[in-house]
Amino acid sequence: MPIKSRIRTVPHYPKQGIMFRDITTLLKDAVGFRVMVNDLVNHYTGMKIDKVAGIEARGFIIGAALAYQLGVGFVPIRKKGKLPAETVGQEYELEYGTDKIEIHVDAIGRGEKILLVDDLIATGGTAEAAVKLIETMGGKIVECAFVIDLPDLGGRKRLEKLRHKVFALSEFEGN
Ligand code: PRP
Ligand code: MG
Repeated sequence: MPIKSRIRTVPHYPKQGIMFRDITTLLKDAVGFRVMVNDLVNHYTGMKIDKVAGIEARGFIIGAALAYQLGVGFVPIRKKGKLPAETVGQEYELEYGTDKIEIHVDAIGRGEKILLVDDLIATGGTAEAAVKLIETMGGKIVECAFVIDLPDLGGRKRLEKLRHKVFALSEFEGN
């Protein structure tokens, strides 16, 4: 398991009881980083994708590498107040707290096929908010891709209920 074995678990971060799945140990490892990107590239090569949309912050690292390899553009979905031009926003509830993400109104064209990327799906609140933003722009979600799925927190099921496909390179039990 070249991916999963390189992901570090930090107990009780950012608060008591949370098992934080830390991809920095995967990213710093040349083989781990390459295998992670290649596994995603292999899965998406041949699929019709116009753009990759990555969610701040860790979704940028994975999404940008994937977009580059697929030869498509990259769109950042950022935390509120970070994008300079006109945006639309969506609030969501996090595993811990609430937040808002935004996208530039001209980032995605009507009918464009979008691959949504983030490092991890837990409750799915962040990904669902991102899906809503992309759909508001008229984009069509091809699939939602993650390095880590925490199935016990229900995010995958939440997206699948909304008829979105989910792809994850690894799963961890619990939170
Ligand atoms: C983490 C993770 C996902 C999100 C998943 O990001 O990177 O984006 O939580 O949780 P959910 O499925 O319950 O919504 P975080 O908000 O901690 O921010 P960061 O990526 O900027 O560190
Ligand atoms: Mg995040």
